[in-house]
Amino acid sequence: MLSSNPRTTREPDPALLPIPTHVAIIMDGNGRWARQRGLPRVMGHRKGAEAVRTTVTACGELGIKYLTLYAFSSENWKRPRDEVDDLMGLLRHYLRNELNRLNKNNVRLRCIGRRDRLPRDIVDLIEESEAKTRDNTGLTLILALSYGAHAEIVEAARTIAEKAASGEIRPEDVDEKLFSSHLQTADFPDPDIIIRTSGEQRLSNFLLWQAAYAELLFLDDYWPDFTKEKLLAAIDNYRSRERRYGARSG
Ligand code: IPE
Ligand code: IPE
Ligand code: MG
Repeated sequence: MLSSNPRTTREPDPALLPIPTHVAIIMDGNGRWARQRGLPRVMGHRKGAEAVRTTVTACGELGIKYLTLYAFSSENWKRPRDEVDDLMGLLRHYLRNELNRLNKNNVRLRCIGRRDRLPRDIVDLIEESEAKTRDNTGLTLILALSYGAHAEIVEAARTIAEKAASGEIRPEDVDEKLFSSHLQTADFPDPDIIIRTSGEQRLSNFLLWQAAYAELLFLDDYWPDFTKEKLLAAIDNYRSRERRYGARSG
């Protein structure tokens, strides 16, 4: 099922890492994909939504437990109104049309980011999709929408400060575990690998706390050209790495 490449298997191989539990992707390059073809940017976003579908299905089939997709950053609100509207339209379309498929594939949907900045009907669709997929036990798909890591971290710090001010916790209770538990990702393990497409080599305010020991992989492909084969190759690349977490391997 998985390809003829002998390394792309789920067989335990002590020389390789197990497949990642949590894959996170910065889906970049839709605009350049379209420009390369003389198409309007929205066509790149549309094609990008197809790559999302393929990737979600592939991750489910591979047995990956968590997939976080950076779909819209807190800074993307700075884009021209037309483009923001196109992106919100695609998101609306995705949420409306994907619910059945998510349920059929046993996918649990969760969203992180600033919901108060999203259109009300999209928030309703998110809440409905989260509620209707909450008992699914396969892949957890986490969509980062209107998400920015700085805002997430500041929000956590504010909540913790309020709890300390009210006496609910003491300042000395604040440690890494308590801090993590106040982030929007509290229910999920940190990403094992963060993939960014389009050749850019930066995190653009994505999962800054959670990325502390993520393996980073930068691909030249534009997001609309991402395929299951490219995902498998990325996982192979990850599995061949050595994660030391500051310790020594020998
Ligand atoms: C990623 O593609 C989609 C979003 C950021 C919403 P871009 O729209 O950033 O495409 P490029 O980087 O301009 O090619
Ligand atoms: C990052 O891409 C955000 C998403 C992919 C949703 P951008 O295209 O917005 O990032 P910059 O502006 O190149 O850093
Ligand atoms: Mg971009």
